Amino acid sequence: MAYDARAFERHYLGERASAATAPYRVVGVQADRVRAAVDVVLTDAAGRRLVVFCERRVPGAECLAATTHLNVSYYAEAGVDSAEAARVTRALAAALAAREAELSDAELAEVLTFSGREIGNPRRALELRINRECNEACAFCNTPADSETLLVDPAGVEALLRAEAATGCRAVLFTGREPTLEPRLPRYLELARSLGYEHRRVQTNGTSFASPEVVARLTAAGMNEVEVSFHTTSEETFERLVGKRHLLDRTAQGIRNVLAAGLRCQLIVVITRWNAREVPALVGDLRRRFPGLERVVLSPVAPVGDAAARPELWPPLGELGEVTSAALRAARAAGLAAHVPSRCGLPLCLLEPDVRDASDELENAPGETVEAGKAYAPACARCAERGRCTGVWAAYLAELGDTALRPLAEAALAHRDRR
Ligand SMILES: C[S@@+](CC[C@H](N)C(=O)[O-])C[C@H]1O[C@@H](n2cnc3c(N)ncnc32)[C@H](O)[C@@H]1O
Repeated sequence: MAYDARAFERHYLGERASAATAPYRVVGVQADRVRAAVDVVLTDAAGRRLVVFCERRVPGAECLAATTHLNVSYYAEAGVDSAEAARVTRALAAALAAREAELSDAELAEVLTFSGREIGNPRRALELRINRECNEACAFCNTPADSETLLVDPAGVEALLRAEAATGCRAVLFTGREPTLEPRLPRYLELARSLGYEHRRVQTNGTSFASPEVVARLTAAGMNEVEVSFHTTSEETFERLVGKRHLLDRTAQGIRNVLAAGLRCQLIVVITRWNAREVPALVGDLRRRFPGLERVVLSPVAPVGDAAARPELWPPLGELGEVTSAALRAARAAGLAAHVPSRCGLPLCLLEPDVRDASDELENAPGETVEAGKAYAPACARCAERGRCTGVWAAYLAELGDTALRPLAEAALAHRDRR
C-alpha cells in the first residue's frame, strides 16, 4: 500500500527538513512496504540509518509525532540510539508541519492519494490490524498484543476506511491479532462494501471458520476473500509453533468451509527452522487436501515482533533457499499458484534459478533502497539485482552469516507486475 513518495518529496521536503534533521540527512524517500505510508530514509556520517515513516493521521493510531495530516514515527535500526531517533523524528515532523501549512489542497491530495489497486500486493491494499485478541500463541508472531501497528480504535478504523476509499483504494485486508474474534468485524466489512472496496479480505488462523455459521455471517457482511495461516500438518510441530493441538483440525475444517462457501482462498506458510523440512511436502499436498485452493504464499519468518527475540526459529539462509525453492517446485507440479513476498521474503539469489520468477522482488522498481530492518552483505555490491533486492534481514546476517548469498552475474528476470 502506498502514497505517492515522489509527490511527498516534491511537496513536503526541502531545505527546512534537511536543516532540522542534522546530524542525519535525508538520502531517500520511498513507499513503505508495511503501512500506507511514505518512508524518509536518513543517514548520519557514520552510515547509521534511520527510517521515518509518515502516514495519514487517524484517531487512535499510536505515533511519536504528528502534523495536521500525518502521523510520523520511526523504525528502529541497529546502532541508532532511540532517544536520538525520537529527537530527529520530532524535528522532522515539525519541519513537515511548517511546510504542510503552505500546501494547497491539490498538493496535499497529490501526496495522500492512494496508488493501490489490488490486494495481491500489500503495497496496493489497505491493511487494518483491528484487534488485540488471539486464540493462538505463535512463537514467531509478528504482531504481539502491544504492537504499534495495531489500530483498535473503531473510529480510527472507520476513518481510515473512508479516507482511503475517497482516494481510490479498492482493496482492504482485515487482520490483527485474530480479526475473526473482533465483534465489530461484520460492521467494518459492511462499511467497506458500501464504500466500494472490491476486495474485502480477512487474514485469519482459520479456527473460527470451523463453524460454517461464522463463514456465512462474515460473507453476508461482505467478506469475499480469505487468507489462512497454515504452517504444518503435524500436531507436534503445530503445538510447538502455533498453539493448542486441537486447533490444527479446526484450521483445516475452517479452510474447507471457506472453500465450500465459494470464497476465494489462499494460504500462507511461514517457514521457520522448526517446520522448514516439512514445507515442500506440505505445499505439494495442499491441492489434494483442499480442492479449490487458489494460491499459497511462502514467507520465511521475519525477525520482527516476538520472532525478533527467537533466533532459534530462523532457518540458516542456505537451507531456507533450498526449502523455499523445493516448495515452489512442489506447488508448480501440483498446479497451485505460489509466490514469495518481497518484505517477508528472501533475496533472489537464495532462490534457485528455475523458481526465481515466484519472487515479488521482481516487482520492485530498480533503485528502490533497502528497507527497514534489512541490510546487504559486502558481496551484494557485485550483484546484478542489487537495485531490486530489498536486502536480507540484518538480524539474520548477524546471527547466521552471509556465506549462502551468491551475487547474481546477470539480472534474474524482467520486471513483473502482478496487477
Ligand atoms: C499476526 S497474523 C494475524 C492474522 C491471524 N491471526 C493469522 O494467524 O493469520 C499476521 C500474518 O503474518 C504471518 N506472520 C506472523 N508472524 C510472522 C513472521 N514473524 N514472519 C512472517 N510472517 C508472519 C501470519 O501467518 C499471518 O499471515
